Amino acid sequence: MGDIAEDETTFYSNAEGYWKEVPPTVDGMLGGYGTISSIDINGSKAFLKKCLGEGEGKTGTGCALDCGAGIGRITKRLLLPLFNTVDLVDVTQEFLDKAKTYLGEEGKRVGNYICKGLQDFVPETGRYDVIWIQWVIGHLTDNDLMEFLRRCQKALRPNGLIVIKDNVSYEGVVPDEVDSSVCRDLEIVHSLVGRAGLCIIHEEQQMNFPKEIYQVHTLALR
Ligand SMILES: C[S@@+](CC[C@H](N)C(=O)[O-])C[C@H]1O[C@@H](n2cnc3c(N)ncnc32)[C@H](O)[C@@H]1O
Repeated sequence: MGDIAEDETTFYSNAEGYWKEVPPTVDGMLGGYGTISSIDINGSKAFLKKCLGEGEGKTGTGCALDCGAGIGRITKRLLLPLFNTVDLVDVTQEFLDKAKTYLGEEGKRVGNYICKGLQDFVPETGRYDVIWIQWVIGHLTDNDLMEFLRRCQKALRPNGLIVIKDNVSYEGVVPDEVDSSVCRDLEIVHSLVGRAGLCIIHEEQQMNFPKEIYQVHTLALR
């Protein structure tokens, strides 16, 4: 037990240490793949627009949460253009500091900048129409991910959605010692989501990314 706890502590503290050394830029957020940011954002916009609107069962556009937001790359180009208010949560204070200038004038509509690990973060009950979780689930242990997703479900408004967009491996769990994360295959992600008590409403693979990187899947959950 002690060993597991110790490993977990190192898993999180190594990741924190890694991100502290990364420059607060779009390229830094995307591990040197800054050029794919537009393809990513356009894919996300098309995905999200299918779910948002006014009609029966449609997701509202009042408030969104950007999880593992970094400098606010997604907040700036996806969430602020679609939602009245956006909150950002990230474990790296330097990124959130940068977000305050990076987001520009529209950044006035940010509700809260929250510096916390998602494993410890409790989102406010019933506050969010959309909780966006991109390129960060690999930094959480299975258990912490499931618990976080459960807390997110409680934080949704009626018809709200949790969106996970992340790398998936071909098979099994692939550890990354450099940034202290793991990459899970799609079956494992599905199983964790199910065990967290969430249903998959919609799922797509992001197309047109470079061939040498992991496949990226987007899952809408509630
Ligand atoms: C690959 S970057 C992605 C940033 C952003 N989601 C994007 O797509 O532009 C990963 C981000 O997760 C943050 N992070 C790493 N571990 C975290 C944790 N346990 N809780 C919250 N944020 C974390 C890092 O500080 C970094 O900003």
